[in-house]
Formats: sequence, structure tokens, C-alpha cells
Amino acid sequence: MAPHDAPRTAPRPTPARTGYDTHEEGATMTTHDAPETLDAADRAELAGLNEARLAGAGPAAAEPLARGAAGWFYLALWAFGAGRTADAAGHAARAARLAPGHTVYPHAAAHLAERRDAGPAEVYTSPDAFAAYIRGGGNVPLYAAATAALAGRYRRLRPSRLLDVGTGDGRALLPALDAAAEGGAVPVGRVDVLEPSEAMRTATEAELARRGVPFRSFGTTAQRFAAENGAERWELTQSTFALQSLPPADRRELLAWLRPRTERLLVVDFDSAVPADPLEPEYFAGLLARLARGIAEYGDDRALIARGFVLPVVLGPFGADAERTNYELSLPEWTAELRAAGFEVAEPELLDRYWWSPAYLIEAA
Ligand SMILES: C[S@@+](CC[C@H](N)C(=O)[O-])C[C@H]1O[C@@H](n2cnc3c(N)ncnc32)[C@H](O)[C@@H]1O
Repeated sequence: MAPHDAPRTAPRPTPARTGYDTHEEGATMTTHDAPETLDAADRAELAGLNEARLAGAGPAAAEPLARGAAGWFYLALWAFGAGRTADAAGHAARAARLAPGHTVYPHAAAHLAERRDAGPAEVYTSPDAFAAYIRGGGNVPLYAAATAALAGRYRRLRPSRLLDVGTGDGRALLPALDAAAEGGAVPVGRVDVLEPSEAMRTATEAELARRGVPFRSFGTTAQRFAAENGAERWELTQSTFALQSLPPADRRELLAWLRPRTERLLVVDFDSAVPADPLEPEYFAGLLARLARGIAEYGDDRALIARGFVLPVVLGPFGADAERTNYELSLPEWTAELRAAGFEVAEPELLDRYWWSPAYLIEAA
């Protein structure tokens, strides 16, 4: 730790009030009840940085305005968005030095350093981080709610052909099939798995085979599958947290392609509005608080899930298009996209108030 980056006050002795001063030498001294909490000085600093940004300054020119950890992290994401990933990694590392107990900054620094050295993150090719993420923390109740809702539809609709777009390793599909099984028999005639990640697809295939569920498996993207399989039809199509992976124009095309080919579509996803300008200070502060809450849910797996999945996904909108892994929508935007594709949309069902955003099941027919 560089001497001028040392926290000015030691953590207080009681766990309930671990204070850190996140401001450097020469700056006004402030302390925090928790290193995650932004105080008035942090907020004023973010406002100043934002003002400079809106006035046309670049992140390098604004460096003298950053003093505390939150300010340096803001500068890191600003630099990341400007394509200056090396600067971004350096600024995030500085934030981590200023707030050593912070839940987000050290992982963000490590993640940005990986991106500086290796380029954009690929979150599903080697899916260890994703697999750990969806099996821990708030994902446990989230997936429990999602699978219960899906199982209810399988029992009611008894589809002879079910398509799952972006199945992953079956974390939603498989428990839903299990929960729907009555007297051991799954009320689904055949499952079509559509999943580009080979590692996750083969895991799903093995589990479907083990259960004796008839299935076909397609190791391709939804876009390519649609281009090559015009004659296919399904009673039911589902996609859990996967349609957000498609760039907006591709997603709209896919939904229009699906409309005449599926009787019913179940979309499970977040109600998550991402502003056009994610560096807007209120959004940035809220994002930081959400991230701290989400990452804190994972004990020993914090580094793995934060660097390998959560940060690459969440930081995407701050970067160039090539840096993005996903494109989230708000609930009204989901509904509008489905209607534009020709679906009628039922009242969305709230599944879980997840730390990132509330998750819904949207049924379209
Ligand atoms: C957040 S994961 C969700 C996986 C699974 N449905 C679940 O609920 O756990 C998103 C999935 O979409 C897949 N995916 C990404 N891009 C895709 C595309 N263009 N077409 C189809 N699937 C895609 C990923 O490989 C990943 O498995």
C-alpha cells in the first residue's frame, strides 16, 4: 500500500461500526460507518466528477477531482467507458487501497486488470464462476421461485415439445422438470435444449439423459438456430435469464421468428432499467450499493463470482459495445418487445425481489 493511500482511521473495534476514512492526505477527513456507505463528501465528489464529465473533460483531466475511494472508482468506470482499460484498472486499484475492506473495489481492480491484459470477458465459455453464482446467495430463493413457476406451467400445459433458449447448465430447467413430475413421469414430451456454451450444454444433456427425459440438443446461438430451423414448432418456449444475452436487434428478430412457431413463451428475467448514461451519479451510487450487497452474499466464492461473472456483466453497460455480455430491459420494455413481436402478454408474475432487481415470469401467447 502506498503511504498516501493509507486509510486515515483504523477500523473501529466493534464489528457493527467498522469505520474507514476513504479520503487521502490533504482532503477533508470523513469517516464511514461501513466502507460500502457513501457519505456526503463522496456524493459531492461524484457530483463534481460528473459535472466535469458533462462539461466535456476526459477522465485523465478529471483525476485531480478524485480524492476518496468512490471518486476513484467512478473515475475507473469512466476511463473504462473511454476505452482506457489500463487507467481503469489503476484507478480501481487505488480505490481498493483507499478502502481495503470494501466488498467491491478489490475485485473490480482485479477484474479490470484481467481485461486490460486479456480483453473482454467471456462469462459462459468456462462457466465455473457462473455455476457458483447461480447456486449461492440470493440465487437460491430466486431459482426456487422460478422453477416452481415453470413447473406449474408444465403441469398445466403438458407440452409435447418444449424449447429452452439459453438453457445453461439446466439450473432452471432441470429442477422445474423434477418438480413437475407426477408419479415419476415428466409432463413434457420432449425438451429442445438450445445452448451455445459446450461445457454447460453437455452438463444439461447428461442430466436429461439421467432422468430419461427425451431431448434434442443444439449447440448454437439462438440467432443461428433461427436462421437454420424454419420449420420447427413448439407448444411451449421458455428462456430464463438468457434473452438478455442477445443484442437488442437480434432479440427483436428472434421474438418475431418465435411468434408463429410457439404457442406460448415464458420469459423469466429481471425488471432492470439500465440508463443510457450509467455514470449518472445516483445510478452509479445505487449500483455500487447493490453490488456490495450481492457480492457479500458469497463467502469464500466472492472473488470467483465477482471477477468471473458479476462484474463482467454489470460493468458491460459502462464500456464499449464489444465489452457487453448482456442487454437488460425494464418490465415495460420486455412487455413492449413481446407485443411488438405479436404476442399477447399476461400480467407478469413477481418471482423474487432479488438484490440486483426484481425478477418476473412473463407469459406471452
Ligand atoms: C444467465 S445464463 C442463464 C442460463 C439458464 N437459462 C439459467 O436460468 O440458469 C444465460 C445463458 O444464455 C446463453 N446464451 C448467451 N448468448 C446466447 C445466444 N446468442 N443464444 C442462445 N443462448 C445464449 C449463455 O450461454 C447462458 O447459458
